Amino acid sequence: MSSIKQLIFATNNNHKLTELRAAVNKSFILKSLSDIGFNEDIPEPFDTLEDNALAKVRYLHESYKINCFADDTGLEIEALNGAPGVFSARFAGDQKDSEANMQKVLDLLHGVDNRKARFRTVIALNYDNKEYLFEGVVNGKIIKERTGDMGFGYDPIFVPDGFDTTFAQMDIDVKNQISHRGRATAKLIEFLNKL
Ligand code: IMP
Repeated sequence: MSSIKQLIFATNNNHKLTELRAAVNKSFILKSLSDIGFNEDIPEPFDTLEDNALAKVRYLHESYKINCFADDTGLEIEALNGAPGVFSARFAGDQKDSEANMQKVLDLLHGVDNRKARFRTVIALNYDNKEYLFEGVVNGKIIKERTGDMGFGYDPIFVPDGFDTTFAQMDIDVKNQISHRGRATAKLIEFLNKL
């Protein structure tokens, strides 16, 4: 079926919305939480990406009875045993400050040779009352100094494998093609297109 589908993306993060809207093209109308007048902060109390993403769609689905999806992402650094992982947003404190988060990573990796890291995104979808999970991963490394001013979060210190620029130096379309969220989204879109 080729009709336009409406979906709620459980986020108010404009960077993510822009990325997702670019990725889904014109096949979907993608609405944010503020588009539907929902302005609460949905709790993310669990210690896995999967549980947090599912908690968000369940909360939203119970309130609105709509098709919706939510994502949760973590930066997993090998030398830090997978940290910050599910705690990426608040790594340096509850203020969710990207600069402080990056500085903490750089400080912890000071003098550490193993710079391997990956971003992992889990998307939970509730569609017609059924739940689905999609995962996207991008492997790369943490560099020693912030480079670039695009993107958000940890982008200025992450260089994906096969590239010599950080995510913060890439056009959004290039980042979308290879990023954790882009890959998880591609799986989501493939699934939706088959419905
Ligand atoms: P969230 O679960 O998507 O909100 O992401 C958790 C944390 O990971 C936040 O601190 C984000 O800044 C960071 N993050 C998520 N996606 C990206 C990305 O594409 N690039 C850099 N940092 C990201």
